[in-house]
Amino acid sequence: MTLDATRRFIKLCSVSDVPINTTKVFEVGNRRFLICNLNETFYAIDDRCTHDDGPLGEGELLADGEIECPRHGARFDIKTGKALCLPAVGEVNAYSVDVRDDTVYVGLPL
Ligand code: FES
Repeated sequence: MTLDATRRFIKLCSVSDVPINTTKVFEVGNRRFLICNLNETFYAIDDRCTHDDGPLGEGELLADGEIECPRHGARFDIKTGKALCLPAVGEVNAYSVDVRDDTVYVGLPL
């Protein structure tokens, strides 16, 4: 693991909580993180579409690393948070993820 002095890592879940090629939402305080397990690599983005606050965790995780919003079909890159098609134009927050001892940690900016 590489320590990142610009982030505070919080424990979010166990690896087994998010089976391969699925997603799951976890709430920490007032944040909702969407954890995506794409081919055994974990990614974390906000669970809120930038178009109209749609719940991305209820959307479909696509094989190419995109997630589709269930409301109006915007797609986001789960690695970068970038909006890939209308109607969303703004990116969602994407977070650093670290997996240690079967536990998934998410890095929040300090
Ligand atoms: S709320 Fe996500 S595309 Fe509209």
